[in-house]
Amino acid sequence: MLTIAARVPDHKKLVPWRFIVLEGDARARLGEVVARACAALEKEPPSEVRLALERGRLSRSPLVITVVSRVVAHPGAPEWEQILSAGAACFNLCLAANALGYATSWITEWIAYNSQVCEALGLAQNERIAGFVYVGTAAVRPEDRERPVLSDIVTRW
Ligand SMILES: Cc1cc2nc3c(=O)[nH]c(=O)nc-3n(C[C@H](O)[C@H](O)[C@H](O)COP(=O)(O)O)c2cc1C
Repeated sequence: MLTIAARVPDHKKLVPWRFIVLEGDARARLGEVVARACAALEKEPPSEVRLALERGRLSRSPLVITVVSRVVAHPGAPEWEQILSAGAACFNLCLAANALGYATSWITEWIAYNSQVCEALGLAQNERIAGFVYVGTAAVRPEDRERPVLSDIVTRW
């Protein structure tokens, strides 16, 4: 899955992304950081229910892959393109996992934008979380939703 995730278009071959694998008790350990970050963020002390939710946030699937976007200064590859490449890595990861029969959820939630969480994950100044890709076996078959009508988004020029 990670090999496929890393096989994305990458202008100037800068490898502007990396992966942090969370499985086993690493999910609960980061969950503790998330709960502490939540307590630091809220004006009122969070309830035990909320703290339990935050502790368990990363344990909703057996495997969570953090896709980190790392932009490096390069005259030939604008930041925008490096970020797009990270998005492509996220989705290739989803496609790979689904092709292998797993279900995925690419989400960020508040934790992707929290400095305590980013610090605990060891992110550098030029790094941001492009997504947490949750990978597991679906308990129920995910329902599809309405998709955009092509005539609304496609024109010919
Ligand atoms: C960068 C990025 C971040 C996302 N973050 C969230 C999120 O925090 N919470 C959420 O419910 N969906 C989030 N989504 C949307 C889900 O990936 C997904 O599109 C949504 O759950 C609907 O599923 P579907 O697109 O398979 O129908 C995010 C998508 C992207 C591209």
